[in-house]
Amino acid sequence: MRSFFIHTFGCQMNVRDSERLGACLMEQGHSPQGIASRADLVILNTCSIRKKAEDKVYSLLGRLEKRKLRDPNLILAVSGCVAEQEGETLLRRFPGLDLVLGPHHVARIPDLLVRAEQGEKICAVGPLPDEERLRGYSPFHRNPSVSTFVTIMEGCDNWCSYCVVPALRGPELCRPRKDILREIRDLADREFREVTLIGQNVNSYRSEDGAGFARLLYSVAEIPEILRIRFATSHPLDLHPDLVDAFAKISNLAHHIHLPVQSGSNRILQLMNRHYTREEYLDKIRRLRISCPDIAVTTDMIVGFPGESDFDFQQTMDLLDEVRFDGSFSFCYSPRPNTRAAALPGRVETAVARVRLREYQARQDEITLGKNQALTEKTFPVLVETAGPSPATGGTFVLTGRTSSNKIVHFSGRKDLIGFLAPVRITRAATHSLQGTIEEKVEHASPR
Ligand code: 5AD
Ligand code: SF4
Repeated sequence: MRSFFIHTFGCQMNVRDSERLGACLMEQGHSPQGIASRADLVILNTCSIRKKAEDKVYSLLGRLEKRKLRDPNLILAVSGCVAEQEGETLLRRFPGLDLVLGPHHVARIPDLLVRAEQGEKICAVGPLPDEERLRGYSPFHRNPSVSTFVTIMEGCDNWCSYCVVPALRGPELCRPRKDILREIRDLADREFREVTLIGQNVNSYRSEDGAGFARLLYSVAEIPEILRIRFATSHPLDLHPDLVDAFAKISNLAHHIHLPVQSGSNRILQLMNRHYTREEYLDKIRRLRISCPDIAVTTDMIVGFPGESDFDFQQTMDLLDEVRFDGSFSFCYSPRPNTRAAALPGRVETAVARVRLREYQARQDEITLGKNQALTEKTFPVLVETAGPSPATGGTFVLTGRTSSNKIVHFSGRKDLIGFLAPVRITRAATHSLQGTIEEKVEHASPR
């Protein structure tokens, strides 16, 4: 039996895939090891969304290969998107690597490990039949916590021109609604209090009877112990009126939507193959804010896409000012293998893209800070997630949780508030977190 350590890079899908890899290994009697250098199976669960993410994997793999020279018993595996993208090439480039495992093959890890231990070099990538892809969701082990991810679909059919995901993660595949509900019911029994439904494109979810994503949300909302439901990531094109309404009607649906826009320029949006205009996007935001006036909106933004002129970038800045996002994940465009955008003319100089990114991020930080400052002296239910030691005495801890709008709040309180909603008055605001004080005894807090 081996002790394993999994390095996780990239998105929430990978965080969940790492948990699934761990669960499959534990079912076979292998055990997790918290310190990477003591593990005798190291898995790199990788991301290739941008070149920088991919390069990080290679440098870590290089270091692990050196360790393997001293410790030949070590088994090295690469899973996730870089595994799918590079396949056999990885085994050739890194002779110390034993196992390459694409995203569809997660549940096969125990068997493949047995073969790797016998000295075989294994490359398990490429598509699998739907039943095989879904099989990987059955193991139930999770690290106990307040909040967790539940995969409801995987893959993507959108083919945005810059993105590697559709080629690497395959076509969209939705899990049956009853499986998802059973999993969440089980999580509620094990004292999880918040679930984030995840998928590359969650709001295109369809259950076996053809019902859409909003319907699934209503069903999840019937599980009373789940105090908050979140979801990520959504495509603006699949944001239909029933989902907009759900924010007004479902009391435990968090008041936050992550809705990637990617650019404020219609010309660039078209080149990106996003299938909406800036005006359509703005209209969706307006409707969301009518349905749920205090909804927080966050986004993903790419600058320096091929052909992006100063004017196009200005359109992005104007959109930021018009929407006033609560936060953005923003990136310089990175050309990726086998994507349509990589062949487009009009490459933007790296230096120009970096200046644009800094300008965007500085403006976003100002907006985020202004929005956070507007929350001071107001009281919000905060779902308490963790407790760290406090400099103060008397059994209090620094508690950390999030508001419904997904803002991180630190405040002092008793450790047994973990998993409860505590009413917290915001006393100080910074760009990335808030500080507060607990308002009244938690017994008086409304359950939601
Ligand atoms: N270059 C830069 N950013 C990218 N993203 C996806 N592909 C690329 C790329 N080639 C960003 C998008 C997406 C987020 C997950 O990563 O903004 O929403
Ligand atoms: Fe990539 Fe677009 Fe699919 Fe998101 S929606 S995973 S950006 S192709």
